[in-house]
Amino acid sequence: MKNIWIINGPNLNMLGIREPGVYGAQTLAAIEDEICARARELGVAAECFQFNSEGDIIDKLHAAHGNAQGVILNPGAYTHYSYAIRDAVAAISTPVIEVHLSNIHAREEFRHRSVTAAVCRGQICGLGPKGYLLALEALA
Ligand code: DQA
Repeated sequence: MKNIWIINGPNLNMLGIREPGVYGAQTLAAIEDEICARARELGVAAECFQFNSEGDIIDKLHAAHGNAQGVILNPGAYTHYSYAIRDAVAAISTPVIEVHLSNIHAREEFRHRSVTAAVCRGQICGLGPKGYLLALEALA
């Protein structure tokens, strides 16, 4: 059975409270429940993680190498400037799909650039929590 890891970055633990007009009213726990339900339908194992620290995200990406067959990554604001996370994605052979709840291209200029997307298999943004489910289908 394929192991798919879902790694959410900083401030995503605040979903439901955090700027609901931008990120919606669903909590991260509710989104993770939906991901796990879809994983069961697809016959894959999904494990969800959330880290506020850059180093923790990097450690988890390294651990994905050889242990996960796919990663869904929402690096949060690190998307826009973390060359260290970019290098961690590039370092592993596990395919990584970048997901953003909001349409980063329609927001503040500093969010338009993703330094991580180029080393990912693809990027899904602006579709809310559905983006995680679509990424899961692609990796499954
Ligand atoms: C986000 C977009 C980022 O710009 C922001 O810093 C986040 C969430 C998204 O899912 O839309 O924390 O990654």
